[in-house]
This record gives sequence, C-alpha cells and structure tokens, in this order.
Amino acid sequence: MKTILVTGGAGFIGSNFVKLMLNKHPDYKIINVDALTYAGNLENLVDIKDNKNYEFIKADIRDRAKIEEIFAENDIMFVVNFAAESHVDRSIEEPEVFLTTNILGTQVLLDTAKKYWKINPTDKYCKKYKEGVKFLQVSTDEVYGALGDTGMFVETMPLKPNSPYSASKASADLIVRAYNETFCLPVNITRCSNNYGPYQFPEKLIPLMINNCTNEKDLPVYGDGMQIRDWLHVSDHCNAIDVVLQKGKDGEVYNIGGNNEKANIEIVNLLIKSLGKSTDLIKYVKDRPGHDRRYAIDNTKITTELGWEPAYTFEEGMAETIEWYIANKEWMENVLSGEYSSYYEKMYL
Ligand code: NAD
Ligand code: TYD
Repeated sequence: MKTILVTGGAGFIGSNFVKLMLNKHPDYKIINVDALTYAGNLENLVDIKDNKNYEFIKADIRDRAKIEEIFAENDIMFVVNFAAESHVDRSIEEPEVFLTTNILGTQVLLDTAKKYWKINPTDKYCKKYKEGVKFLQVSTDEVYGALGDTGMFVETMPLKPNSPYSASKASADLIVRAYNETFCLPVNITRCSNNYGPYQFPEKLIPLMINNCTNEKDLPVYGDGMQIRDWLHVSDHCNAIDVVLQKGKDGEVYNIGGNNEKANIEIVNLLIKSLGKSTDLIKYVKDRPGHDRRYAIDNTKITTELGWEPAYTFEEGMAETIEWYIANKEWMENVLSGEYSSYYEKMYL
C-alpha cells in the first residue's frame, strides 16, 4: 500500500483528486491535510469519508511541528501539494496570506519531505532518497503571465507573474525547483489552465455566474469581457496529475491544458443560454487591476512524453457541470451561508 499526502484536499481540485485516486487506486492510502479555510469544505468529501484507505487531518501546511508529526507517523511515498490561497481577486485585497501559505507552506512541506525521505538526512552531501518518493507541486499557468493575441505557454518560458496570487505560485515553483537542484529532492511541477467542474467555490467565474443566473442576479463581467482563459475539466486535471505522479521524469515541469480558449463573455453567454435566462443580466463592471488578457497552454510535452489526453470536450464538460450545480443546490446554499456573503458584498456591491 502506497501512502499519498494530499494537501488542500478539501478544496475544489483537491477533493476531486482524492476521490479519483481512491477510486482508481484501491492500493493507495490517502492522507488529506487541510486547514479548512473559507475554501475548504468537508462536504465535498462526504461520499468517501468512511473509506478505510482515507484519513483527514485538519492542519495548516505552515505548521512545521504538525507536518513533521504526520511524516513521522506515516510512511509517505508521494506528496501532492494543492493547498493554497487560490483566488486572484482576494490576493489583490490581502496579499500576505498568499505569501505565507503558498510560499512558506510549500517550503515547510519540502523541508519535511527532505528530512524524512533522505537516506542520510544529516549529511548535506547525501543525494540519495527512499526509492520511488516524489513531491508534486500543483502550480498554474498564471505563473507565465499574460499572452497577446497569439502564442502559447511552453514550459521553458520565463515566469512573469502579474498578480500577488500568481507571484506567490511562481515563487513556490522556484523553491521546489531549487530543492531539486540543490538537494536532489525528487519533484515534478504541473502548471494547469483554468479548471471547471463540480465543487468549485462560487468566487470563481463559472460557479459565480451559475449561481447569479439561477437567482436572476447581475452577472458582473470585468472590463470588456474579452479576456481569454483556457478551460479544462477538473477530472482531466486530476488524471493528468496522476499520470505525472506515475510517469513524470524527475525535476520536470509539465503544462496541463485541453486547448479550449474562450473569452469570458462567451462563457457567460453560454451559461445564460443553458439556464434559459436573459442577457439583460450582464453587467459590465470595473476591470480587475493587472488583469491578464489571455492564457493558452501548449500541452505538447505531457501528451507526447507521458501519453495524457483530456477525456472531456468543453461542450460535454460544461453541460455536465451546469447539471451538477442545478442538482446540488443544497451544496451551493451551504457554501453561500458561510463567509461568502460578506465577501460578495465587499467585492461587488
Ligand atoms: P481552493 O481554493 O478551492 O482550495 C484550496 C484548499 O487549500 C482549501 O481546501 C483550503 O482549505 C486549503 N488551504 C488553504 N490554505 C491552507 C493552509 N495554509 N494549510 C492547509 N490547507 C490550506 O483551490 P483549487 O481551485 O482547488 O486549487 C488547488 C490548487 O490548484 C492551488 O494550488 C491552485 O493554485 C492550483 N490551480 C488551480 C486552478 C484552478 O483553476 N482552480 C488551476 C491551476 C492550478
Ligand atoms: P477566475 O475564475 O477568478 O480565475 P482566474 O482569474 O484565476 O483566471 O476568473 C476567470 C476570468 O473571469 C478572469 O478573466 C476574470 C473574469 N471574472 C469576471 O469577469 N467576473 C467575475 O465576477 C469573476 C470572478 C471573474
């Protein structure tokens, strides 16, 4: 039995990943470490909470003593680090927690993995690690910055992050890279495009617009709505992470994306149409400061070297996602009853 430490497994992508892995690999044990910030929700995991191969530990990745204790008590083979502050608009309001969680939290995990995985942890020249271990850092395409009308992000591009969120993720990528170069810690970094799918917190574009549409509330489109994002279904992202865990070459970075570039306004119009509402709900609002114009992922490396391919077309994935939010109104209501309403008031009203 292999033990995987998943951090941030109560969030959107992490919870989808935990469920996918338990289903796909009955011989894996998953330890989910999550601080349960506003974005962490154990309701995302109710179907598997009693699975004998699953354990939840409420902990902050910045808490070195607690992370050490978890490594000491478990024979961890892989770390998959999803835990992060993940929303650009919040990073503009309050950058500091993005730096402490996304950068320093990652460093605590790296240090602890190094200490418990290294054959001789007290010898700084020792470069030998336990067989098969790996630290996988879940990063984002936003670290590359913004594109103009043409071109795509490739793994060799320099990092040019524009928001406090993307700058914190880029910093974490560089620390992960440094632990690989200096200490030979086995690592991979994945950089995925925008995800959509079930259990996404409704501060993000798609669930926010679905919720507002359903409730006939204004649909706040930033600027001219012509910013482009490259969308991927969350289960395709999770499968890609599994492929990189199994087959990724040591120290390599892999972009993950499904070639689905859409302007924000196209997404909003699609949701309005699917939910049978009027375009009168659209309200153009002041643009986000430093708003990246376009993201597009070149996925050649992961598709050709590791054989990963997305399973969903954008149309299938979006239809299924909209259905999920309609069928899971209670999930949305529970999320909205928490911290969300004061956030929404502050940002939009
Ligand atoms: P999310 O905000 O839904 O979930 C983040 C999770 O991390 C939450 O469960 C939260 O409680 C937990 N967390 C936050 N701070 C923590 C801390 N200090 N210690 C322990 N747990 C903590 O985010 P998401 O959208 O699921 O994104 C997950 C990861 O994937 C992030 O690292 C993000 O940068 C990356 N990513 C996201 C997208 C996307 O489109 N959402 C795309 C590419 C990469
Ligand atoms: P978001 O889901 O926040 O992801 P990211 O900023 O990480 O790409 O936003 C996706 C796009 O939608 C982005 O260009 C900003 C835009 N957007 C709006 O126009 N209105 C909104 O209310 C939100 C949340 C986002």
